[in-house]
Amino acid sequence: MRILFLCTRHNSLSQRLQVELEDCGHEIVVAEVASGEQMEAAALAADPALIVAPMLKRAIPPSVWKRWTSLIVHPGIPGDRGPSALDWAILDGAAEWGLTVLEARAELDAGPVWASAEFPMRAVSKSALYRRESTQAAVDAVLRAVATFDGGARPPRLPVGEQRGRERPACRQADRRFDWRESSARILACIRSGDSAPGTLARVAGESLHVFGAHEEGRLRGEPGALLARRDEAICVATGDGAIWLSHLRRKDGIKLPATQVLGERAQALPELALPAQEQPDHATYQDIRYRERGRFGLLHFDFLNGAMSTTNCARLLAAYRHACERPTRAIVLCGGGDFWSNGIDLNAIEAAADPAEESWRNILAMNALVRAIATTSDKLVISVLQGNAGAGGVTLALAADRVYARDGVVLNPHYKRMGGLYGSEFWTYLMPRRVGEATARHLTDSLAPVGTARAARIGLIDGALDGDALIERVLRIVEPELGFWRYRAALALKVRQREQDERSKPLDRYAEEELAEMHSNFFGADRSYHEARRRFVWKLCAEPVCAAVTARETA
Ligand code: COA
Repeated sequence: MRILFLCTRHNSLSQRLQVELEDCGHEIVVAEVASGEQMEAAALAADPALIVAPMLKRAIPPSVWKRWTSLIVHPGIPGDRGPSALDWAILDGAAEWGLTVLEARAELDAGPVWASAEFPMRAVSKSALYRRESTQAAVDAVLRAVATFDGGARPPRLPVGEQRGRERPACRQADRRFDWRESSARILACIRSGDSAPGTLARVAGESLHVFGAHEEGRLRGEPGALLARRDEAICVATGDGAIWLSHLRRKDGIKLPATQVLGERAQALPELALPAQEQPDHATYQDIRYRERGRFGLLHFDFLNGAMSTTNCARLLAAYRHACERPTRAIVLCGGGDFWSNGIDLNAIEAAADPAEESWRNILAMNALVRAIATTSDKLVISVLQGNAGAGGVTLALAADRVYARDGVVLNPHYKRMGGLYGSEFWTYLMPRRVGEATARHLTDSLAPVGTARAARIGLIDGALDGDALIERVLRIVEPELGFWRYRAALALKVRQREQDERSKPLDRYAEEELAEMHSNFFGADRSYHEARRRFVWKLCAEPVCAAVTARETA
């Protein structure tokens, strides 16, 4: 059946729903809309059997919902109403939360409930909950609702007693406000309720700033509100009963940037409390790159905010990777972050740079150095484990490994062009066809469509999708038998032979030269499309609304 998605933005949740519903055989037409008129036009153009609004910030007009059954995805439990469902759940310390699929009516979030799903809360930011728990709940509930509709049934009537939620107003800064004398737990909840948007305002170093990326610190203490230390690009602030780290800050009317960059000299004056990736602290603290060993495995975690890999992050990760290479292990497991795997070069850092073209260039060279080190590792097996979504160069980074596994439900965007026609580098012209063949690689990079894990595994982009619980453990169990002496030696010999053969047919350097020639003209050429697209992306300026039949059909 043809389903029209009405979205304010085709974000990770709507992309996941798209790939799941397509896997069920439905045709999905996605319309990014900013007004009732645009919704009407999109519905008339698509004339769908059903409308689903996975993430829509405006009400669907009666002219639409009276003619087409329109299902709204609301990130709250049944009965919950209002635009700040997850914000309140975090602030209230809810142990469980949920998501509801309800039919559009004149009154917002008050139509008949078609399906709902619940999940236990995790102590993470609102956007991390949204991308993992809410998204999985949305898949469960929307698939059920669509099946009910497809079967010709009406929504099951939910008993009033099961509608535990209530109407809540929009969450304002006053609701998130905290005092540094309060407990770390309370402050973390206030910050996480506003992370990633709109951010929670706090006094930091005498300035009113939006704060992001909060992590508990278990050892440092000080006068509440005082800046205690810096680590890499994060700062540590004392609370009433401990301290917390903040990775990012944003000035009013500014963009989200590393905390030390925003504070400048005030951060540089702080004592630096380095914590190398291989050191394992015995208390809660902030460590975005972690290296741990488990038997014959070296596990490298890199948890960068939004999966954005700045020049600095790439260099730090490369240093940690080189350390991992020197250890007497047989396999390196690249674990990415819990929230994102990687989204490629850091567009915010580039936008904030004095010379964005130069910084783009530095950043892509740093990414390439990392990818090259992984792709040319000859004395260990390297395995990528995608716990979270990946986009653009972040997908290519994963493909540099010998083996690629992903958590079931991860969404991949293996293309660059959306960023103003960016050509992309990271050796994608070698790494992607090597896995899926030239034709499919071309299709993936041209179609700009999201790819779900089921399809990614079918076309060979990844080696397998695994259930999310204890994902890393599962991967270790799969790979462990291959690390016995003889099998391991044979696997290494095969990998080295293959690399030598590939190098003879076309050297890695040539792939880089060709890609970088294109990137050079993207960054420094007369065509400013990349710079304009990046500006719009970073400053969240709405692109022209689009209504596109999304054709994510397989070619393999
Ligand atoms: N650099 C900086 N920030 C990035 C980023 C990047 N490369 N990729 C994503 N982000 C940020 C977004 O700005 C957003 O920040 P916010 O939560 O503070 O608003 C957050 O990550 C989540 O991104 P969003 O676009 O909302 O996620 P999504 O899951 O809906 O979309 C992508 C995923 C990958 C399609 C989309 O983020 C994207 O196009 N990213 C850019 C990828 C790219 O072109 N990289 C450069 C070439 S290698």
